[in-house]
Amino acid sequence: MKDGLKIELGRRYRFSASHRLHSGMLSEEENRRVYGKCNNLLGHGHNYVVEVRVSGTVDPATGMVANLADLDGFVEKEVIEPFDHKLLNEDVAAFREHVPTTEHLCTEIYQRLKHFPKAKLESVRVEETSNNAFEYAGEEL
Ligand code: NI
Repeated sequence: MKDGLKIELGRRYRFSASHRLHSGMLSEEENRRVYGKCNNLLGHGHNYVVEVRVSGTVDPATGMVANLADLDGFVEKEVIEPFDHKLLNEDVAAFREHVPTTEHLCTEIYQRLKHFPKAKLESVRVEETSNNAFEYAGEEL
């Protein structure tokens, strides 16, 4: 079989966390108007699903792009352990500065995973609910 062909691998992970949508750049009134019930003082929770996509060539010895155990260990350490069953606004330093919307979760998770040593990170997709999903592939507009 030909070596050097690019293969993309996707794997899904899950964590549960709470957050409150509240921006320091908006007034109390604007926060209530923009975020509605998501601005309620004591927050609310989500069961998040994260799909991580990495790419590389197939290792001729293993027949794999990356060992799933390596990817799992990296995602567990960088994302699941710091985010699962946490209050994102307080427990994750980045969200003390930035509103923990799913857009910001996507970019924060991307930053945490882009140094995965065994394959190239292509994108991070986060589902907040079965109706909402956001995806980031490291691009700027
Ligand atoms: Ni929410």
